[in-house]
This record gives sequence, C-alpha cells and structure tokens, in this order.
Amino acid sequence: MMAVLKAAYTALILYLMRRRQFDNVKLRTYFRKHYGIDVGLYSYGCFDRWRMPGPLRVGRYCSIAGTVRSTNNNHPITALTTHPVLYERKFGGIEVDHEWQGRLTIGDDVWIGHNVVILPGCQNIGRGAIVGAGSIVTRNVEPYTIVAGNPARKLRDRFPPDLIATIEASRWWELDIPALRALIQQDRALVYHPTAESLAAWMAAAQAQGNGEPTAPGTVRRESDRSLP
Ligand SMILES: CC(C)(COP(=O)(O)OP(=O)(O)OC[C@H]1O[C@@H](n2cnc3c(N)ncnc32)[C@H](O)[C@@H]1OP(=O)(O)O)[C@@H](O)C(=O)NCCC(=O)NCCS
Repeated sequence: MMAVLKAAYTALILYLMRRRQFDNVKLRTYFRKHYGIDVGLYSYGCFDRWRMPGPLRVGRYCSIAGTVRSTNNNHPITALTTHPVLYERKFGGIEVDHEWQGRLTIGDDVWIGHNVVILPGCQNIGRGAIVGAGSIVTRNVEPYTIVAGNPARKLRDRFPPDLIATIEASRWWELDIPALRALIQQDRALVYHPTAESLAAWMAAAQAQGNGEPTAPGTVRRESDRSLP
C-alpha cells in the first residue's frame, strides 16, 4: 500500500514539475539521478524515461516533439532468442540485469519532429541538427544538417559553412533566456536572419562590454546551465 502511495506521489510531483520543464532544475536533477537522463536548460520533450530512456544526454535549447522515441540497444540478435529472458534478472535465467552500453547524446539546439524513431545505430545527433517528422534515424546525425526519411538521409545543411563557424564561435546557447530575450528585442534581424557578419559584429560588441557580463556570449551562470562540449 505504501509503495502504491509513494508511486502515485512521485507521478504527481513529476507531472507538476514537467509543466515548467523548460527551466525546472529540480526536474533535471531528478531525471539525471534516477534515470541517467541529463537534460540541458530550456530543452523540452524528453522527460519520459519510457519513450526516451537513459543513458541520454540532451543539450540546451532542444525542441523534441512529444511523439519522438529513442532506444539505446537492440535485443540480442545472434543468441538463441531475442527475448529479455537472456538479459533481465526477473525471468530467473541470470543473477544480475545485463548492463547496456548504448548511450544517446543530442547536442544543443537540436529540433526533432513528430514521430521520429531514433535507433541504436544513432548515438549522436550534432548541435543545431534538424530531424524531419517521421524519420527513422539509424546513423549519427552531423551538426547543423537537416535529415529526414526512412532511413534518415541528409536533405541539406542548415546554414552556409561561414555562418556555422561563427555560430560555433559565439556559443549563443550558453545565454540564458533573459539574455536571449534581450537580444531578440535589441536586434531581430540578427536572431531571425543571422549572417556570419552580423553574428561576428554582435560577438565583438558583447566582448567589448567585457567577458563575464551576463549578456556576453559564452557566459554560463550555473553548473546546471552547462551545454555540451
Ligand atoms: C524536415 C523539415 C524541417 C524540412 O522542411 P523544409 O525545408 O520546408 O522542407 P521541404 O518541404 O521544402 O522539403 C524538401 C524536400 O525534403 C522532403 N522532406 C521534407 N520533410 C521530410 C520528411 N519529414 N520526411 C521525408 N522527406 C521530407 C520533401 O519531400 C522535399 O523533397 P523533394 O525536394 O524531393 O520534393 C520539415 O519537412 C519537417 O519534417 N518538419 C518537422 C515538423 C514537426 O514535426 N513539427 C513538430 C513540432 S516539435
């Protein structure tokens, strides 16, 4: 009875925390500690250990549709059976649960559309990538590429190479939401239609204000804010 009450209480707390999943640090700490799911600030759509199980690492500012599924491991393919009797203790065949090796890393600012399935052949989706709706992702996805289809193939690059290089140098994803909000209000063209030149000018201006200021690119305020390397 106590176990049922505890499970119901946990489910309620998680439900309430998920309502502010964009920036809830406690929710992130809980998922990291209990499920091996490490989610950067402002990312959403991946706080579900059944739909997207750990080990999973997600960067900052990711948009993951609520219908995405990922799986880190295949059942044994060359064994006599693919059934979990071979790797789950509860069936009585083995003494300890098998430790799975697979791990998925999703970089900062990745957008994953509806009904995407990420298979064990994919262990990394690079920063800034976009995965089109309905894709079956069987291989790693390169940063700043747009992929789609079954199996997912590259449609095109998201940005020209000089802009990608400048975006990488800016590390804009380390800004917090108030700083990003201020940038949108200050320079809409830069945010909605960035070019290598405009982004470089912004970086130079921000650096002139002094590194370490909250609005300077590359500023990370708290440990929980960290982005992927
Ligand atoms: C991937 C995506 C972003 C590309 O958008 P786009 O650049 O406007 O793409 P287009 O519609 O111009 O299509 C370009 C080509 O890619 C193909 N394509 C686009 N999306 C595709 C997809 N999801 N699966 C397979 N092929 C796709 C198109 O058929 C087209 O092929 P063609 O050139 O042979 O005609 C978009 O199609 C998509 O899937 N968005 C996800 C939407 C979503 O799930 N939102 C949920 C909110 S989190």
